[in-house]
Amino acid sequence: MPSTTILPAGRGPADVPGNARLRQAIVEMPPQLIGEVARLGMGEKGIIPLWYGESDVPTPAFICNAAHRAMLAGETFYTYKLGLPALRQALAVYMTGLYAKPVPAERVTVTTSGMNAIMLGLMAALNPGDDMVLVDPVWPNCEQSALAMGASVTRVSLEQENGVWHLDPEKLFAACRENTRVIFLNTPGNPTGWMIESDQQQAILDFARERGIWVMADEVYARLVYDRPVAPSFCDVAEPEDPLIVVNSFSKSWAMTGWRIGWMVTPQWMTESLFSMIEYNTSCVPAFVQEGALAAVTEGEPFVAEMVARCRAGREAIVPALEAMPQIQIDPPRAAFYAFFKVEGMQDSLTFAQEMFRHTKVGVAPGRAFGEGGEGWLRLCFASDPATLAIAAERLGNFMASYKL
Ligand SMILES: Cc1ncc(COP(=O)(O)O)c(C=O)c1O
Repeated sequence: MPSTTILPAGRGPADVPGNARLRQAIVEMPPQLIGEVARLGMGEKGIIPLWYGESDVPTPAFICNAAHRAMLAGETFYTYKLGLPALRQALAVYMTGLYAKPVPAERVTVTTSGMNAIMLGLMAALNPGDDMVLVDPVWPNCEQSALAMGASVTRVSLEQENGVWHLDPEKLFAACRENTRVIFLNTPGNPTGWMIESDQQQAILDFARERGIWVMADEVYARLVYDRPVAPSFCDVAEPEDPLIVVNSFSKSWAMTGWRIGWMVTPQWMTESLFSMIEYNTSCVPAFVQEGALAAVTEGEPFVAEMVARCRAGREAIVPALEAMPQIQIDPPRAAFYAFFKVEGMQDSLTFAQEMFRHTKVGVAPGRAFGEGGEGWLRLCFASDPATLAIAAERLGNFMASYKL
């Protein structure tokens, strides 16, 4: 099998007579490049898969038990579109406790994952032909969601200042044009671990208010932070009526990637439209899944602390080892759970990641998956057992020592 085989594209308009065609934006949807490495060894015994963004820890029992109890108690019917009132309220209390300004339950909508919250938000905000300004390198799904709406995407890249990731807000503002409807920021960022500070959030919000542009803030890594208890949130600085959509998820902090549940905070008036959009789409998040999430958000602080400690230990197992490799440059991440590193001389991150996997059985994501600016870089998820990560670091070190670029 050639190493860069891409899955077949959907049938294009030229192949299908009449109107039974896929929309062009869907035909053009590319396969996600992380999967192009993962499919070389997914499920294989003995591999160390650090390609996807999830921990190797299963969801803790107190969350599973809450969902199980709810199922057995008959919570198996359609339920509230915007989320169980108790969960919306608990999320409001949780966010109000974390951030500088109160978040009332009326502004909270429970969604079928963080990804679904992104889709709903962009579906509500973007017309075909509109533009979204996206700060990259970033998780590929953010761009693809906008393209699926028929919108275009303008990328503004983070810069490295003395080896540290940094956003120049002036470049972001200059990229906004007449048809810009959304500025999309993922902070703490996947893959870079970059974290925006409150003064920049304030400046971006002021600009968005003045220009009438939405800010979509993807804050799914808000709790996985190593230099403070919680990352700065747009909820710290925004007024309730600001054009702001904050996306969050149960996936990362509570080890619930497979549950598919997240939430969003919007201006209150927008929830009426979200009610209808959810009605015509998923209908609701299953009630028993929401009961699990309710246990997570009300009783899960000790688990979140464990998760942060585990990721911190994972970071310690990986980052110094990478720093010691002469070909590698890395900004030690202050948040999220990724080591994003540059490999000197590497031209094609996909081929390199595939080759590295064949030799080491350690799976990482190619930097190109996160935008063209990510070419030359690789991403490794360190949310796994530190002992396993130490083995991975050793294998990568041996590979790098012998590899001729
Ligand atoms: C930046 C970012 N946003 C959103 C998500 C979506 O999380 P989920 O759909 O599992 O809630 C992810 C998952 O990897 C992510 O990395």
